[in-house]
Amino acid sequence: EKVIYISRHGQSEMNVKDIIGGNGYLSPSGVEYGEKLGDFIANHIDQEKTRFVTSSMNRTRQTAKLAGLDPDQINDLDEIDAGDFDGLSYGEVKCRYPSEYEARKADKLNYRYPNGESYVDLLKRTRRAIQNVDFESCDNFLIIHQAVARCLIGILLGLSDEKVPQMEVPLHTVIKIQGSEITYHKLL
Ligand code: F6P
Repeated sequence: EKVIYISRHGQSEMNVKDIIGGNGYLSPSGVEYGEKLGDFIANHIDQEKTRFVTSSMNRTRQTAKLAGLDPDQINDLDEIDAGDFDGLSYGEVKCRYPSEYEARKADKLNYRYPNGESYVDLLKRTRRAIQNVDFESCDNFLIIHQAVARCLIGILLGLSDEKVPQMEVPLHTVIKIQGSEITYHKLL
């Protein structure tokens, strides 16, 4: 059975400030992860039989570049679109738009950001990406985003949609999925 490796990008400047969305670059710690990821790949991955994939966003592409990779870019793997709230911190949303904040907390799966996406939307987009990547033809190594990683893991493991938005997907950790088996390799 083919192996699918999933990693979030290294810690971004927005992760440090607890900001939603944006299209920024990595923090110093995120840069260190990109380099560590390169070592991990050199030591554990057969690059001949592996396809490397990122989203089209700066933080995933920078992570891949630091790891010495030249991946395919897939727009359908871009992070959930936070619409009007893109660039705000979670604290700002809670303070300025309390009813939106509560609505998302109450139903994170179905909640759609104003002029943006919901996890239901994102699940659809992730399924489309999976169809285009064709995971059966070779091993795949994806450098993606928190919400997209949740969707992808949920789809691959056949979890119920309700579980997807709550899943823990830690930074600086390579997740390996083979069949129904999932293992975590913390690099930093
Ligand atoms: O915080 C990083 C991030 O990738 C944001 O860009 C995105 O909106 C968020 O994670 C998704 O996680 P959650 O759905 O828990 O807010």
